Amino acid sequence: MSLVYSHICAAAENNIIGLQGELPWDIPEDLKYFKEKTLGKALIMGRKTFESLGQALPKRLNIVISRNKNFAVPKNVLLCSSLDSAYQLCEENSMGIYDPEIFIIGGGEIYRQSLSKVTFIYLTRIHRSYEGDACYPEIPMDQFQEIDRKDRDGNPSYSFLTYKRKNLL
Ligand SMILES: NC(=O)c1ccc[n+]([C@@H]2O[C@H](COP(=O)([O-])OP(=O)(O)OC[C@H]3O[C@@H](n4cnc5c(N)ncnc54)[C@H](OP(=O)(O)O)[C@@H]3O)[C@@H](O)[C@H]2O)c1
Repeated sequence: MSLVYSHICAAAENNIIGLQGELPWDIPEDLKYFKEKTLGKALIMGRKTFESLGQALPKRLNIVISRNKNFAVPKNVLLCSSLDSAYQLCEENSMGIYDPEIFIIGGGEIYRQSLSKVTFIYLTRIHRSYEGDACYPEIPMDQFQEIDRKDRDGNPSYSFLTYKRKNLL
């Protein structure tokens, strides 16, 4: 099975994605969108994002990246000491991944290091700037093309954007 890696992220106009381990906004439709996109899939996340979630996301394969090989994870969570070892684990498919789309779900450090790997970016753009301490990298628009956009009114308003790597169009 040939795998495809995707980012899924919600980011403010100034690219902020988090503040002290929390999302700086409350947008239930975005949480629903995240759930619908990721159910049944394998997820790769940084240790800090895993700690913010506080538990494994149900009905998904949770892979956590930490340099601390002794970082304690629940039985249903896989721990990898590098992004490359997480990719390798997915490619080997020893845990029976049945969907070819692997979601990289953050946070900032992990998005930055994996941007060159992804084919799709599902970005919820929140149309306001926020204070924060984690951010999404600038999307290199010479490499990605917007292929879908759904705008939503609200306070703040937001848009569900999908980008695809250009050489794969
Ligand atoms: N808005 C969104 O869509 C969204 C999505 C996800 C997260 N967030 C937010 O983002 C924030 C967390 O992001 P963050 O950038 O601070 O942290 P993060 O990317 O979630 O995790 C960083 C940790 O991952 C591990 N790590 C990173 N690179 C590694 C590598 N190459 N090899 C091995 N381990 C590596 C390290 O863990 P160790 O220190 O254990 O070695 C590092 O401290 C939170 O506020 C969260 O709420 C927002």
